[in-house]
Amino acid sequence: MATNNIVVLGAGVSGLTTAYLLSQDPKNNITVLAKHMPGDYDVEYASPWAGANYMPVGKEGSHHQAWERATWPALKEITEKYPEAGIHFRGSVIYNRKKDQETATGDWFSELVQPNPWYKDVVPDFKTTPDDQLAPGIDNAQEFTSVCINTAVYLPWLVGQCVKNGAVFKRAVLKHIADAASAHHTGQKADVVVNCTGLSAKTLGGVLDEKMYPARGQIVVVRNDPGPMVSASGTDDGEDEALYIMTRAAGGGTILGGSYQKHNWDGTPDMNLANRIMKRCIKICPSLVKEGQGIEGLDIIRHGVGLRPLREGGTRIEKDKVNGVAVVHNYGHGGFGFQASFGCAYATVSLVKDVLQNKSLAKL
Ligand SMILES: Cc1cc2nc3c(=O)[nH]c(=O)nc-3n(C[C@H](O)[C@H](O)[C@H](O)COP(=O)(O)OP(=O)(O)OC[C@H]3O[C@@H](n4cnc5c(N)ncnc54)[C@H](O)[C@@H]3O)c2cc1C
Ligand SMILES: *[C@@H]1O[C@H](CO)[C@@H](O)[C@H](O)[C@H]1NC(C)=O
Ligand SMILES: *[C@@H]1O[C@H](CO)[C@@H](O)[C@H](O)[C@H]1NC(C)=O
Ligand SMILES: *[C@@H]1O[C@H](CO)[C@@H](O)[C@H](O)[C@H]1NC(C)=O
Repeated sequence: MATNNIVVLGAGVSGLTTAYLLSQDPKNNITVLAKHMPGDYDVEYASPWAGANYMPVGKEGSHHQAWERATWPALKEITEKYPEAGIHFRGSVIYNRKKDQETATGDWFSELVQPNPWYKDVVPDFKTTPDDQLAPGIDNAQEFTSVCINTAVYLPWLVGQCVKNGAVFKRAVLKHIADAASAHHTGQKADVVVNCTGLSAKTLGGVLDEKMYPARGQIVVVRNDPGPMVSASGTDDGEDEALYIMTRAAGGGTILGGSYQKHNWDGTPDMNLANRIMKRCIKICPSLVKEGQGIEGLDIIRHGVGLRPLREGGTRIEKDKVNGVAVVHNYGHGGFGFQASFGCAYATVSLVKDVLQNKSLAKL
């Protein structure tokens, strides 16, 4: 049986989901190479910091929308079939204020918060809140059932699935894609390299895609459990300060967010921002703490900062040839890397198949 030697560069949710799908074909012999692996917490590694939940934001008719649409059934199936993957279903409430429309957070959530979104037929239990039940200042609200992913369980679960299917994981900091091609565990040259390097901070060397930039996300992880998830279009604390609450599966704690600070690379938590996050989360969701309590009622596990890997012009899923090496890119997933993970990975795998198809044609 002919073997396809594949190197996947990057072990965030994009690289791991792509490797997971590729590893299901026994003809593929896969090496996953990465500087950071699940278990690491580093500002250069976005995936562990994500909530993560499924809150679709792709504009109607875009690739982004198609990737998010394609991801829901996969996440639903994993949630139902593999409780050990660390994902659970969770009710969620979405609040919209029209005055947030022009802000960084309002723009990010514009599809999510609109009253008649495309995803109403994708997620279960979608329901619009009647106008006479809206809290003061809220222009419209809706509820649906989503998922919350405990990234500390899910990312290692993906590693485990890949390993079970024969993939080999190796630590490496790659300077050039050609180095990746020669780092396959068989010692043979890789037929194709899949580039899932996310924001790939400048310190990593190599070519930085000029279109990449961060949207800094600060979070507070607490032991309190308020029940349903909450997301809002914005806050009165600043145009790039976000508001969301989500409780992770399997004892993962509750994530209080957040911020959406474009072009800000600061990996250190800002304690003033942390205070504002905690205060506004309690205000919108008083059940986070006991009656009458303020932020002293929160039991803090940790403060964190992650950088969402945004790309001007959108996610790059594309075939390429770099120094004679066939490359398929899958990077630039901003704040939606989990909720679009399977859609993006399906598209990437189909390009990998194109490349491999040509390889076998060339041998005929
Ligand atoms: C606070 C916060 C909350 C979020 N919430 C959500 C959410 O609720 N839902 C959602 O869908 N998304 C969410 N996101 C977005 C999501 O986290 C990202 O879109 C996703 O993690 C990107 O994954 P990735 O695999 O592309 O990149 P990363 O996770 O950053 O992984 C990059 C990988 O490439 C490796 N790498 C890079 N360069 C090299 C090199 N030269 N050599 C070797 N290895 C290299 C790194 O070591 C790492 O393994 C959130 C993000 C943040 C920051
Ligand atoms: C994959 O690589 C390993 C070497 O690590 C080798 O033993 C195995 O035969 C290869 N698999 C296939 C299908 O060629
Ligand atoms: C891989 O992706 C990164 C972005 O994360 C980009 O900077 C780099 O140029 C890509 N590598 C190649 C060989 O195209
Ligand atoms: C495959 O071969 C065709 C025909 O030669 C070419 O047009 C196409 O770009 C090739 N695809 C890849 C991924 O190399």
